Amino acid sequence: MKIIQLTDTHIVPDGGQLFESDPAARLRAAIKDINAKHADADLCVLSGDLTHNGDREAYATLRDILEDLQPPRQLVVGNHDDRTRLCDAFPEVERTKDGFLQSFRDMNDHRLIFLDTIEPGVHTGAFCEKRASWLSHALSDAGERGVLIFMHHPPTTIRMPKLDAYRILDAGPLQATLAAHKANVRHIFFGHIHRPLAGSWHGIPISATKGTNHQSGLDFSAGSTNTVTLEPASYAVIFVDSGSVIVHFDDFSDTSPRFVYDPSAAPDKQIQRL
Ligand SMILES: [Fe+2]
Ligand SMILES: [Fe+2]
Repeated sequence: MKIIQLTDTHIVPDGGQLFESDPAARLRAAIKDINAKHADADLCVLSGDLTHNGDREAYATLRDILEDLQPPRQLVVGNHDDRTRLCDAFPEVERTKDGFLQSFRDMNDHRLIFLDTIEPGVHTGAFCEKRASWLSHALSDAGERGVLIFMHHPPTTIRMPKLDAYRILDAGPLQATLAAHKANVRHIFFGHIHRPLAGSWHGIPISATKGTNHQSGLDFSAGSTNTVTLEPASYAVIFVDSGSVIVHFDDFSDTSPRFVYDPSAAPDKQIQRL
């Protein structure tokens, strides 16, 4: 199974700029790259902050751009989104009976679970008992399937104080629900931090990838400024089989020089610039 994770697209109404960059143009470039390299992907997950301000025009722009995406898509809600406007633009997005944008789909012996970690009006993450109850049911009938979880906020500190302030402040209900089940949770994927990251949380592998428009500067200090950069954007290419979950980060917008390298060739022929 191959899954693409795109995150933090932060779309503004078409033509608008964000951090001196055009999020719509950046997403179009990502989709062009995905279609060229990964049209065979089983799914493309957009893991939240689909728009920057949650306005209807931006969702209409997003919907228009996503028409070109060849793999099937799954949308996850982020703190910059608006649940109602998101669902108005994308009626296929499922809501739980409590109104959270949580759903799952079974693919290739796996259950992919999509969680809602937002709290309207604030940028911090949340995962309440109602959401945990829904997750409990989704895990309890997952059977022998491997479980992959996609959500917007990180469940844990990432040792970057300025970003940690906006994590899920109380991940207890999430952690307790995962611990209470014998489900085979193989990986948690998230966005929000606009950084590439890999690690584990209570024994579960976790990873995040950069956004398609702008990134967070890598800074472990507790200073007062939050730095945004225009490092090359990327998306994640995820391969899943019964024995492994492999996550690659493709800086699709990188324009640095490329070379053909053949160490077995004559010394003066080993390196050729493309
Ligand atoms: Fe974001
Ligand atoms: Fe976010």
